Amino acid sequence: MKYILTAIVCITLLVSCGESKEEKATLKTKTTTVKKSKVVAKKEMVVVDADGVVNVNMITADRMWFNLKKITVKAGQKIKLTLTHTGKLPKSVMGHNVVFLKQGVTTSAFASEAAAARDNDYIPEGTTAVIAYTKMLGGGETTTIEFTAPAAGTYDYICSFPGHYGIMKGKLIVA
Ligand code: CO
Repeated sequence: MKYILTAIVCITLLVSCGESKEEKATLKTKTTTVKKSKVVAKKEMVVVDADGVVNVNMITADRMWFNLKKITVKAGQKIKLTLTHTGKLPKSVMGHNVVFLKQGVTTSAFASEAAAARDNDYIPEGTTAVIAYTKMLGGGETTTIEFTAPAAGTYDYICSFPGHYGIMKGKLIVA
């Protein structure tokens, strides 16, 4: 009887040991996969194609967020920026755009002017403060703009939806 019990305990231990090893192995594989895809995704956000055009994949969601805080280009380079809103909220609630501001423009001053321009997608009509901008998107929408990188320097970009510019911002660095 004692032997049988010992045998059962041993078998149980072996089985559970084997299982947990397998589980660990599975977890390890999963973690590695996630890490790999993250690296690939990050790399593909800014890609210079064969024609020298800088393709920028800007992503946003149902919160105040841009995937890119910094875009580095060379003066005179063509920039093709695609903004994708991966969320579900309508643009009246969680609208997002990307607005590249000229040097010397104060983001807060521009943002308050923009906030008053609701009928014009939150872009002040006739503004001379911008280099380029996308249209305002709601969840599930995407848009592409093309423009030429300005002279060397650092430029601010923001989302001009009311209240977003404080968090949704980044720098265009032209080398
Ligand atoms: Co926004």
